[in-house]
Amino acid sequence: MRILVLNGPNLNMLGIREPEKYGTRTYDDLIGMIKAEAIRLNVRVECFQSNHEGDLVDKIQAAFGNTDGIVINPGAYTHTSIALLDALKAVGIPAVEVHISKVEEREDFRQVSYVRAACVKTIMGRGFDGYADAIDALCGLCGLEDA
Ligand code: DQA
Repeated sequence: MRILVLNGPNLNMLGIREPEKYGTRTYDDLIGMIKAEAIRLNVRVECFQSNHEGDLVDKIQAAFGNTDGIVINPGAYTHTSIALLDALKAVGIPAVEVHISKVEEREDFRQVSYVRAACVKTIMGRGFDGYADAIDALCGLCGLEDA
């Protein structure tokens, strides 16, 4: 089981940006937690972060044929990017949308998610645990819960 974990713009600033919304742990802390979860579930995980929409599109396209599931927190591109939606649809890899904060309790402009239409599940407001939940969900989907 191979999972790609994608993080969009400003998620490299975790620990610095708006700690009241995103917490005080860093992006490196997040990756450490994801890798520990991957070991626990015996899955292979690749993590990638970019502040650039096209780089995220390239990474989704490159996953075609070699990746079983995608965990994606597109950051602000959630609310703007048809390109990310189209890329996820193009590759047809099961994807789970994750948001660290409680997006449903935030501004109106955050209530739109373009990628959601290409995702099997959305997890919001669970902090870093949302990424582990997403990996668990993808394993469950592929029947590898206890792998
Ligand atoms: C976010 C929520 C988005 O609205 C915001 O632009 C982000 C982070 C989250 O993880 O809660 O950058 O995706």
